[in-house]
Amino acid sequence: MKEESANHSTGLYAKENETKKLKYPADWILRKKNKKKISVITCYDYSFAKLLSETPVDSLLVGDSMGMVIQGQTSTLPVTLEEIIYHTKLVKRGSPKHFVIADMPFGSYQISKEEALKNSFKTMKESGSDALKFEGTDEETLHIIKKLTASGIPVMGHIGLTPQSVLTTGGYRIQGKTEEDQTRMIEQASALEKAGCFSIVLELTVATVAREITERIHIPTIGIGAGIHTDGQVLVLHDMLGLNEGFHPKFVKHYASLAGEIKKAAHSYHQDVSDETFPGTEHSF
Ligand code: KIV
Repeated sequence: MKEESANHSTGLYAKENETKKLKYPADWILRKKNKKKISVITCYDYSFAKLLSETPVDSLLVGDSMGMVIQGQTSTLPVTLEEIIYHTKLVKRGSPKHFVIADMPFGSYQISKEEALKNSFKTMKESGSDALKFEGTDEETLHIIKKLTASGIPVMGHIGLTPQSVLTTGGYRIQGKTEEDQTRMIEQASALEKAGCFSIVLELTVATVAREITERIHIPTIGIGAGIHTDGQVLVLHDMLGLNEGFHPKFVKHYASLAGEIKKAAHSYHQDVSDETFPGTEHSF
């Protein structure tokens, strides 16, 4: 039996010192140990997932950012569990080999422990995801994460800016600016590690705080607007492709400017139809 397939539930035999595909939580932790950075991109549908399946990007996150980038909402709050399950299925269908993380949406794990567990198992069973992501570290959420990780469900934590709580935490602001905030965030990260998370997203966090957290814990930190010291990075697909015109926050790098390309293509198509240059005989039967 090949060494890397020896243990399906834990991936404990992941080979040392090589950048292997992320298949199990243990692979994420090994990456940190080997100081190899982890790249994550959000993804919400089959077509993009299929394109990303042909790239070395490490993992796809079906984020509740879909509320904004796919649905045109002003926050992530309206996103439902059924929508996360539906979009995760599409992504997994487009890229079956990627480690796909489903984001547990607002209201799916806050009502009661029973409902949180029911929704978590439902998401794993129906979406085909490889892991779930939860925002925050209140007592109930930590309890749920502990229970899930003990039941064999890989969980990614998320601290710093947690968009599901923007209404009570005062909007989209950089986190970790005061000493009190720094101490709280370090404690939160350590609580998530203890609860069994295999990784933690640090969103909009002062870089020195992200570094301190990254150095203190043994599971990888994945930053978005959290500076250069995290063990990996995550970006929203539509932001990094330049599909979201007029959205230029400091932490986003545009790797393409697809909005302009798409509009140019649509203009050309419209012109060709108006001029009767499309379809041509080569497009006709
Ligand atoms: O929903 C999302 O896309 C996220 C990332 C920004 C980490 O949570």
